Amino acid sequence: MATILVTGGAGFIGANFVYLQLNEHPEDRVVCIDKLTYAGNLETLEEALKNPNFRFEKIDICDRDAVFALFEEERPDIVVNFAAESHVDRSIENPAVFLETNILGTQVLMDASRKYGVKRYHQVSTDEVYGDLPLDRPDLLFTETTPLKTSSPYSSSKAGADLLVGAYHRTFGLPTTISRCSNNYGPYQFPEKLIPLMIANALADKPLPVYGAGLNVRDWLYVEDHCKAIDLIIRHGKVGEVYNIGGHNEMRNIDIVKLIVEALGKSEDLITFVTDRKGHDMRYAIDPSKIHAELGWLPETMFKDGIKKTIAWYLENKDWWQNILSGEYQNYFDTMYGARLKDAKKA
Ligand code: NAD
Ligand code: TYD
Repeated sequence: MATILVTGGAGFIGANFVYLQLNEHPEDRVVCIDKLTYAGNLETLEEALKNPNFRFEKIDICDRDAVFALFEEERPDIVVNFAAESHVDRSIENPAVFLETNILGTQVLMDASRKYGVKRYHQVSTDEVYGDLPLDRPDLLFTETTPLKTSSPYSSSKAGADLLVGAYHRTFGLPTTISRCSNNYGPYQFPEKLIPLMIANALADKPLPVYGAGLNVRDWLYVEDHCKAIDLIIRHGKVGEVYNIGGHNEMRNIDIVKLIVEALGKSEDLITFVTDRKGHDMRYAIDPSKIHAELGWLPETMFKDGIKKTIAWYLENKDWWQNILSGEYQNYFDTMYGARLKDAKKA
């Protein structure tokens, strides 16, 4: 029986990972810490909280005393760090909190992991640390040896953390692994990200704000496939290694938005081209051959099925996201999209 400490488990991917662990490894104990920022939602963990093998504590990963006290009490075997500020647009507005949580918080967790001798510290990173790829070179993909070359304060903070993880492994011998995944979609994603934002706006017949011409490409992966890959890495991955995770599923933003519009029976007139994101990365595409060859991982959910499941989930769980939309989010939407929508063009 192992104790797995999951940070950021009240967020999108962390919560999906908590449920995967409790379902697939009922012999293990899962301890989750989360600061419950705007992106963390304890309602998401409602079912997990009923499980005697699960414990939740509201803790900021930057709070050294609280983190060390929790490690002292729980002595985790494995630490999986999902906790992060995760939205590129917010990092453009306010970079400081990204550096604090994503870099300094990672340091605190690794210091505690060293002191209490964890067997594995896993850092959940992103393909955005590699920067972007050109649209006219479909042959180019990110591999684990692609140089780090970031565009946004978000991706820079994630790359900073990755470098620090590498240093803790080499200098202190901390048994680390890092995974770098492409864009995720699925249940419990906060409606500031492309797919849930478009679903929520389309259902409310609000404009669908597509940045620039909508030609940017992302490599979409169903969240459960990401969680299964991390589960394999923490149990069978090689210490000191980086693993890229992606499903060879490149799609243009505009095509995703059109697909959502069609699936919901709405009009394409809702699509509104707005001012582009500053420093907007053009294309992400992962080469996942290492994790496939070493750990036998392959994505299981095809995009056409995953997006159907995701749309159905948002339709069936309106309370979950409508609670979010009624709060602070409205101010966020007005600040982030107010000026953009003034300059908007219709599709
Ligand atoms: P999210 O924003 O939905 O969730 C982040 C969680 O971290 C929230 O519950 C939040 O409350 C918590 N948190 C934030 N600051 C904290 C702090 N200081 N202390 C403790 N908890 C804190 O993000 P997500 O999409 O679930 O992403 C999880 C991880 O996966 C991040 O590290 C992100 O960089 C990485 N990632 C995300 C994607 C994606 O497509 N969403 C892709 C690749 C990698
Ligand atoms: P996002 O979900 O924020 O993920 P990331 O920036 O980490 O890839 O955005 C995905 C893509 O969708 C990205 O190219 C930006 C674009 N986008 C829009 O066009 N409109 C929006 O309102 C949002 C949130 C994103």
